[in-house]
Amino acid sequence: MLKTLAVAHYRSINTLVIPLGRLNLITGPNGSGKSNLYRALRLLAETAQGGVVNALAREGGLDSTFWAGPQTISRRMRNGDVPIQASVHQGPKRLRLGFAAEDFSYAIALGLPELSSSAFALDPEIKRECIWAGAVYRPAALLVNRTGPVVRSRVERTWEVLAQHTPTFDSLFDQVGSLSSSPEVLQLREFIRRWRFYDHFRSDADAPVRQPQLGTRTPVLHHDGRDLAAALQTILEIGDPQALHTAISDAFPGARLHIQPLQGARFAIEFYQEGLLRPLSAAELSDGTLRYLLLVAALLTPRPPTLMVLNEPETSLHPDLLPALARLIIRASHECQVWVVSHASRLIAALQQDPGCNAIVLEKNIGQTEVVGQGILDEPAWRWPD
Ligand SMILES: Nc1ncnc2c1ncn2[C@@H]1O[C@H](COP(=O)(O)OP(=O)(O)OP(=O)(O)O)[C@@H](O)[C@H]1O
Ligand SMILES: [Mg+2]
Repeated sequence: MLKTLAVAHYRSINTLVIPLGRLNLITGPNGSGKSNLYRALRLLAETAQGGVVNALAREGGLDSTFWAGPQTISRRMRNGDVPIQASVHQGPKRLRLGFAAEDFSYAIALGLPELSSSAFALDPEIKRECIWAGAVYRPAALLVNRTGPVVRSRVERTWEVLAQHTPTFDSLFDQVGSLSSSPEVLQLREFIRRWRFYDHFRSDADAPVRQPQLGTRTPVLHHDGRDLAAALQTILEIGDPQALHTAISDAFPGARLHIQPLQGARFAIEFYQEGLLRPLSAAELSDGTLRYLLLVAALLTPRPPTLMVLNEPETSLHPDLLPALARLIIRASHECQVWVVSHASRLIAALQQDPGCNAIVLEKNIGQTEVVGQGILDEPAWRWPD
């Protein structure tokens, strides 16, 4: 489980350290930084998929994603006594992401190349990566230390050089093969690779989910939801069919779901509703109904991830469906850690009923994202490797 997430100098986040629980609910007004925090989490996930530098470049590179305000906002700037201005010692631009998990913690710092003869001079570089034991960084707890191209790992009381020429765009996790003497890297990589993000289910008229799709066992729903029929059938066969039926009748009283195998090993959804003589196919379902089924399939997965992230799951759902969705999310939070970004008051209210819900309300204050009500003492302990 993730215990702490830390982000610095990324978009509207100057510095943010947030404690995480089993069920994390991120809310806040428009522009407060919910999506920025979500993106930061995605970037962290990209480190383990080999794509953090590319993902950052696609977002507009460091120039656009780097925090546009001064490094520190003094009390006098806050009070309006002096204008907002750059700090005297700005230091090199470093975008930092990190987290503390159960056993190990990880942090990465990205910056611009100093002197580059490459045509890719705007690509950010990985400057520093560290893995340490425990939640709070201390030099003595450091296990793996990457500085520029050199990766070192602690072997008892000495440091062993694991790699000398790591490319600036490869993270530690891309080098697992050559870092075989470092089990922490492998363990953290597997942990991060099992994070699952759902933020762009497709339900438009041309969405693949509306057509029959290949029926193969699908314990994990595709991120755009295309293999919904197979995922639902997998839940019926090896997951929790009772929970699936309950989730459907909870939201659509009297409705029933059947997955029909077709010729050519394809599966079709048949949705029986009260008052109709024949079931409706996925092509005929409303956007909201289809999106609800997609969320059901995602949340009842027979193979839970280490972290399930849902970005604004309420999109297209009628408020009456939100309590049923909240029950599904709470159920999922017993199987895996959950992160939900939401605007919908009924979903928020229903999730907050759960004693395990860690509600984080964001606000923007002088341009930077802050957690409402978080004083310095409430912030989880966190130190960036210097
Ligand atoms: N490089 C940057 N430096 C500072 N602030 C930035 C930077 N890039 C974007 N922002 C700010 O981040 C804010 C957008 O935050 P974000 O998209 O996370 O909001 P949100 O909480 O998801 O809002 P919504 O509810 O509208 O989706 C904008 O107000 C924008 O001004
Ligand atoms: Mg947003």
